[in-house]
Parts: sequence; C-alpha cells; structure tokens
Amino acid sequence: MTENIIYLDNAATTKPCPTAVKAVLECMDNFGNPSSLHGIGIAAEKRIKEARQNIARTLGVSPAGIYFTSGGTESDNIAIFGAARKMKKRGNHIITTMIEHPAVLECMRALEEEGFEVSYLKPDDSGVISLEELEHELREDTVLVSIMHVNNETGMIQPVDKAGEIIKKHSPNAIFHSDCVQSFGKLPLRPQEWGIDLLSVSGHKIHAPQGIGVLYCRVNKLRPIIFGGGQQDGIRPGTENLPGIYAMGEVSRELDAKGNSIHLKSLRTLLKTEIINRVENVKINGTDENNAGSVLNVSFPGLRSEILLHVLESRGIYVSTGSACSSHKPQKSHVLMSMGCSAAETDSAVRFSFSHMNTTQEIMRTAEVLSEEVSRLRRIMR
Ligand SMILES: Cc1ncc(COP(=O)(O)O)c(C=O)c1O
Repeated sequence: MTENIIYLDNAATTKPCPTAVKAVLECMDNFGNPSSLHGIGIAAEKRIKEARQNIARTLGVSPAGIYFTSGGTESDNIAIFGAARKMKKRGNHIITTMIEHPAVLECMRALEEEGFEVSYLKPDDSGVISLEELEHELREDTVLVSIMHVNNETGMIQPVDKAGEIIKKHSPNAIFHSDCVQSFGKLPLRPQEWGIDLLSVSGHKIHAPQGIGVLYCRVNKLRPIIFGGGQQDGIRPGTENLPGIYAMGEVSRELDAKGNSIHLKSLRTLLKTEIINRVENVKINGTDENNAGSVLNVSFPGLRSEILLHVLESRGIYVSTGSACSSHKPQKSHVLMSMGCSAAETDSAVRFSFSHMNTTQEIMRTAEVLSEEVSRLRRIMR
C-alpha cells in the first residue's frame, strides 16, 4: 500500500521497520504474560528485560528507570500528573512552554483546574524558548518544569541540555520533565548529564509500532494515576504490551541518533534550498540553527495548507498541515502563532517531516512537484 509513495509525515507516525515487524511476529508465537510463574511467562519477562536494557543503553541510564506505557501521551500524563500531585505539599507552581504538544498542554490546563499555577514560556520568532525567561520564572514553590526537546511542528531544539542546572539552582525541589518524543533516535539524548528527571518517548515515531511508549524516571517521585495489578512498580500497572515493548527495544538497539541527525539535516537543507529556489513567496518557519533536521515547516501565503496537502497527495506525496495530532480540529497552530506568524502564514503552513529512510531523490521529486502545483494553484486563484 505504501510502495511508490513519498512519505514525508514522519513526525505524525513512521512505517514500522522490518526489525519491528519481526519482533512483533516473534511475540505472537511467544505470547506469555510476564507476570506468570511458568516458563512461557519467564520467557516473556526475559524479552521485556532485554528491551528495557536496550532502551536504557540508548539513553545512557539505568534500566531500573525505564517504564513502558502506551505512547507519548500516556508517558506525558503519568509524568506531569504524577509529579505535580506528589509535590503538591511543597509548592503549587509549574512552568512549561507555549509550544508543547497537547499531551502536555492539556495536562497543564487540568492541573490549573486543580489549583496549580502554571507559567507558559513564550518562544522567540525562531521557535526557541529562552533560558533567561526560564530563570526569571523559577520560584521557591516551583515543583515541576516541563520543556519539550524538539518541537513537533517546527523541529526546533529547545535548550533542555542547559535547563536542568538552572532549575536545580533556583528551585531545588522542582522535578524536570522533558517530552523527547520528537528527538529520541534523532539526536543523542543524555538525561543524566542534563539533569532531566522524567523523559517521555514514543515508539511509533522511530519505526516501532503504534501503542508503545517509554517513561524514564530518574527517581520514583510520582503519584500513580492508574491503579491495578502492581506491574512496573505500580507506576504503570497493567499487563505489559509484550510485542510493542520487544519491538521498541529491538528498534532502539539499532538506532544511530548521530548518523540520523546528519542525514535528516541534509534532507531538510536540500528541500529548503530547492523550495526557496523554485517557489516564489514562501516563508520558512524556524531556522537552520537549533533545528533537529527532522521537520521543515513552510508557509505558502495565499494558499490553504489543506488544499496543498490533498494536491500533493494526488501526486503521491504525503505531508501534514501544522501538527497531525491537531489537524482534525480546525484550529490555528498554537506553535506558529506563539512564534508571531501572521494568520496568512499559519493558514498556509505545511509540515514536511523526515525519517532516516527518506532519500535525496524523494526530496528532489517533492520540490519539483511542489513548484508545479504551487504555481498552478496560485494561477487558478488569481
Ligand atoms: C512532541 C510530542 N509529544 C507527544 C506526542 C504524543 O505521542 P503519542 O502519539 O505516542 O501518544 C506527540 C505525537 O505527535 C508529539 O509529537
């Protein structure tokens, strides 16, 4: 079904790679419940342990801190509600950013209803938050800071590697969470060096299946938000998703974040250069500096992004408007708006998002089709 297409919507989801498919199939035959005491259960437990070790190695952390969830949304929810509620007696203040994914922002809105005070850091016009503003907002009663690593709409890298030290200096009680869903596998991550206490990851962004995620916890300072049979230290109870977990571990084992980063940046630069050279009146949202290379966000003022999306689809090229997770709601992108984009720029923004599996030939073909279609649509609209 997906042969002969050019898939540039990898920030929404990725095609499961052969390693992931093989791992899932293996677990269909070896289906044990890891809590069972017999051999089939023990074999399942062994696979989960292996996956935990593979993921811990990728993050440079202890396997004991790796918890499996159903994806990025659940990891974010367990981290944010779990930390805020556990720390409530110590303080009432939370800091996050205006450009977080709804999986974080909606938790914050719910916590505001519970009585927490939340400060939202605004990005500059390139889409990056400032450490000075973070420092200014930190208080003695700040108990949680949640800052994403790579933004899903722009690919812009947030300075989470430097934020931890500042947070600990001004708010020693605060727990530092980072949503690394769009950076895991694309940039080397070092949560321990960076002072990150909680870190969210999602499998389906790295060619593992949908429905599997990871929450890394440096220390268990979380109040559980779901209750059940006590699996995974009670942080995420429930029978583990063995096929997803094993596939996620096997895919993580093969990840080459440094190599991927170089390839992604070269694809992004190529597409950006080709678009600028071939298409008139475009605006690149975000900058080359501080970009992970995984996303190119471009506005084509005068066109509606949905129309361009469907025209490209008719030519076999798959992209997204703004962020895929919110594209069923006809809302303007909160990320682009917070960066100061105009309504015309926000309404015409298209997100091209890359995987290490994309090729330069695909990028050249995309640029060619895009220049033909944008000129055609603009002629019709004149
Ligand atoms: C930055 C970010 N956080 C969280 C999520 C949610 O992850 P999941 O789809 O695995 O629930 C996404 C998904 O697009 C994302 O991009």
